[in-house]
Amino acid sequence: MNNDKIGIFDSGIGGVTVLKEIVKILPNEEYIYYSDSINNPYGDKKDKQIINICENILKYFIERDCKAIVIACNTASAKVTNILRKKYSNIPIVAIEPAYKMVHDFAYNKTTLVMATKGTIESEKFNKLYNKYNNNDTYLMSCRGLADIIEEGNEQKIKKYLRENLSQYIGKVQNVVLGCTHYPLVKTEIKEVLGDVEFFNGAYSLAKYLKQILEEKELLTQKQNKGNIEFIDSSKSDVKKERFFKNLEEEILL
Ligand code: DGL
Repeated sequence: MNNDKIGIFDSGIGGVTVLKEIVKILPNEEYIYYSDSINNPYGDKKDKQIINICENILKYFIERDCKAIVIACNTASAKVTNILRKKYSNIPIVAIEPAYKMVHDFAYNKTTLVMATKGTIESEKFNKLYNKYNNNDTYLMSCRGLADIIEEGNEQKIKKYLRENLSQYIGKVQNVVLGCTHYPLVKTEIKEVLGDVEFFNGAYSLAKYLKQILEEKELLTQKQNKGNIEFIDSSKSDVKKERFFKNLEEEILL
């Protein structure tokens, strides 16, 4: 079968944190991961720009005969999911969202910090979610520039950013929603500042939902062996490719 691939994208390598969860429960599928690092960050871009960028990536996946698309970027998910689903109704589009419902279900009575890009925090989609679950005490933190320095991979800059911007929450929060797919890559550094907080990440729910959708549409692969993962980076960076696979292999032995 030709169209047996799943296309997944983010504004760089951050979406590897989503792909990891997907591969754990759908190991035999074939994946094309599109790291759009040339357009990083999405978080500060105008809606129109993000819509254009994401539509082009989606068209590329369709040309490559993908059977489903995963938006592994909270910012893109907040801005483009409904528009693209309406326009491309023949292909399932599964999109991540900040795990704020998960906090509601499992840790409602604790104080929560939602970390996400400015684009996500200000989006209508996130605000609906926020108002719907209206958890106990919640701080919303628009982390301008954080995804960029994680993408860049400069450990010192990351630590400095987190020290400067998270210190005000020390001792005040017990839950941290990682509302950008880049942030799970710096969980250790966040804990270094905030101490032993509990993380909430939407990747696992997305992976389960993707499996359910593929089952319902009878699109699950019939292959019994591990699927290939193709990595494409829009800035053609070999360093990113290396970091991507290193990260993927840390938890999953391919
Ligand atoms: N990783 C993306 C997210 O989940 C966005 C990072 C960016 O600003 O490009 O929101």
